Amino acid sequence: MAFDEKSITRRELIGAAGAVGFAAASIRPVHAEATYRARSVGAGDKLVLGLIGCGGMGANDMKQLIKKPEVQIAALCDVDKNRMPNDINTVTEKYGKAPELYGDYRKMLERKDIDGVIIGTPDHWHALNLIHAVEAGKDVYCEKPISHDITEAKSMAAAAKHYKKIVQVGTWQRSTQDFTSAVDYVRSGKLGKLAKIHCWKVEERGAGRGVHAPVPPNLDFEMWTGPAAAFPYMANHVHNAWRWFYNTGTGKTGDWGVHMIDIGLLGASKDTDLVMPTEISAYGGKFTFVDDDRDAPDTVQAIMRFKDPDLLLHWETGKDQPGRPDHGTEFVSTDGKTLRVWRGGLKLFDAFGEQLPIEQTPATNDHWQNWVDCVKSREQPRSNIASMAQTTITCHLINVALLAQQSITWNKEKMDLIGKAGKDTIYYHREYRKPWKLPIYRG
Ligand SMILES: NC(=O)c1ccc[n+]([C@@H]2O[C@H](COP(=O)([O-])OP(=O)(O)OC[C@H]3O[C@@H](n4cnc5c(N)ncnc54)[C@H](O)[C@@H]3O)[C@@H](O)[C@H]2O)c1
Repeated sequence: MAFDEKSITRRELIGAAGAVGFAAASIRPVHAEATYRARSVGAGDKLVLGLIGCGGMGANDMKQLIKKPEVQIAALCDVDKNRMPNDINTVTEKYGKAPELYGDYRKMLERKDIDGVIIGTPDHWHALNLIHAVEAGKDVYCEKPISHDITEAKSMAAAAKHYKKIVQVGTWQRSTQDFTSAVDYVRSGKLGKLAKIHCWKVEERGAGRGVHAPVPPNLDFEMWTGPAAAFPYMANHVHNAWRWFYNTGTGKTGDWGVHMIDIGLLGASKDTDLVMPTEISAYGGKFTFVDDDRDAPDTVQAIMRFKDPDLLLHWETGKDQPGRPDHGTEFVSTDGKTLRVWRGGLKLFDAFGEQLPIEQTPATNDHWQNWVDCVKSREQPRSNIASMAQTTITCHLINVALLAQQSITWNKEKMDLIGKAGKDTIYYHREYRKPWKLPIYRG
């Protein structure tokens, strides 16, 4: 497994300030293991959690977790006070007591009674949130895509491994019956030899036109921007809309490719150590929302070549014809059978388009319960970080090829691009805005 090599010592970590990823002077470094080692959670103990990034998908994850009898939500953190009231109410109604509130996640990570955190921040924050959390001894439920670039993804997986932390990534399809049935069916060989995988998501939203405005008093915009490049505040670049900008998001490919391509990779692999592409080509641009502010393309066509198994994976986003689901993954066999899976179902067709019956495999427990169980058992969850680094990097490779405007080649053993092509793009590696620094872990 690519990330399963020798673990590292602290001295092997590189970075100008050792493993400390930020230089803000007033905060104690959260990486100091001896000081911040988390308590170990026994089988009968409550799992005490904090949420970083309220109001959106993080709030949804918290709502799933708060239902679990083993879980106690103790703290909420957001850089925008206006994003917190609903989540404060959810916690207060459940326990009859308000949660502790934070504006700086590093302060929350200092708490020894917190065992784990949910990361629901935008993509440009995941790497620092997660690495600081595992350095502080916390297990993590992290939203997808795991990172904003390839360098971050590798360091995050290595850091989680080094600190032996249990990380579940929010690709919840891995815990739903239609998707697990599709993956099991393909792996069983019943579909036949795979020739092609097709993954898609229709692009339905534009970013609109932004107007420079004063930063609202409820928002710590400096902390929202974090390691991303500074830009003047515009509402349509911040909450939820950050995903359409290279600086903070990963476009539709990082947003939805990471779900649909993930299922394609899982079906083509024997287990959660995923096959990765060797050659990647991508074309794309603003062909639909031509007048809006986004710089990430609204339309993408990408082809990835795999060697073992020998097949092509096609990823597509943009406008589409009606008549098929607006997203999905299709596995196509050499004799033309097609298995289609999406969030609404699972269908098998013969080579002439006639629908065939297909049996479902037994349902699993839900994605959030899987994480809770694994935190207690210390087993790897279904969307573990080593595996999700492979999916996330595969999606980043599409964005890298797009920005490089040429085909690129990937070596899974070395977990790196072959040659220089693509290495100067933001999705291979981004310079962090000072004083933020990415702690680099290898392994
Ligand atoms: N698994 C899924 O199906 C799914 C669905 C939607 C979104 N997501 C993922 O969830 C993440 C969040 O997406 P969203 O649409 O909810 O975004 P959002 O912008 O709606 O919410 C993010 C929240 O994080 C806060 N935040 C930003 N920087 C912070 C920091 N440094 N500390 C604390 N809080 C900070 C923001 O103020 C905001 O309230 C993304 O990574 C996204 O890809 C996953």
